[in-house]
Amino acid sequence: MSYSAKIGPSILSSDLACLGSECVRMMECGADYLHLDVMDGHFVPNITFGHPMVECLRNCVGPDPFFDMHMMVSRPEQWVKPMAAAGANQYTFHLETTTNAGNLIKEIRESGMKVGLAIKPGTTVEELAPWAGQIDMALVMTVEPGFGGQKFMEDMMPKVSWLRSQFPSLDIEVDGGVGPSTIHKCAEAGANMIVSGSAVVSSDDPRSVIAMLRTAVSEAMQKRSLDR
Ligand code: DX5
Ligand code: ZN
Repeated sequence: MSYSAKIGPSILSSDLACLGSECVRMMECGADYLHLDVMDGHFVPNITFGHPMVECLRNCVGPDPFFDMHMMVSRPEQWVKPMAAAGANQYTFHLETTTNAGNLIKEIRESGMKVGLAIKPGTTVEELAPWAGQIDMALVMTVEPGFGGQKFMEDMMPKVSWLRSQFPSLDIEVDGGVGPSTIHKCAEAGANMIVSGSAVVSSDDPRSVIAMLRTAVSEAMQKRSLDR
């Protein structure tokens, strides 16, 4: 087993006027990485920020925090180089946005970033499977992308279980409605990278929530390895 439990707060639900200090606060509360949601108003019905903001955040938090860019944009090819230059570490694009995933994966790697591949709730995991050997992380969306604070879709868990059974060492991320009340489903299914927005950012005690999420994932991983 080469993967580990990692918790990545989504700062979408924080006070956007204080993004830099919110990122620092999340890292101080024990976040393993930061999940940054880029939306273009085309692929999803909402807009957030682009690479100039990412560059400012990088300058604010320093070189260490890992930036997982969740690119909810129609033409992901367009932003690979600017995001790499801005200090992104992983470029997670949506399978639904491209007809040439292979080429995009290559471009992301050549830019020095890790590769994440995301699927919306309506996309089957079989469509992602052919690429699984070439990517660092698969993201199974557990809400329709576009907004924080939505209800967790438990019916996405079979996708996670299937991926975990087929690709035992792949990083598998879940995103949308994940918090203390839904983490156990994700952990049992085999997710190890956990995005949590409102549940962490709006909590009075983000440190405890992050620790609780990580413990749930670690315990499920341990149980899986004992069951084998
Ligand atoms: C939704 C975004 C998520 C979102 C998660 O499209 O991709 O990352 O911010 O927020 P919560 O955890 O509140 O659903
Ligand atoms: Zn996201």
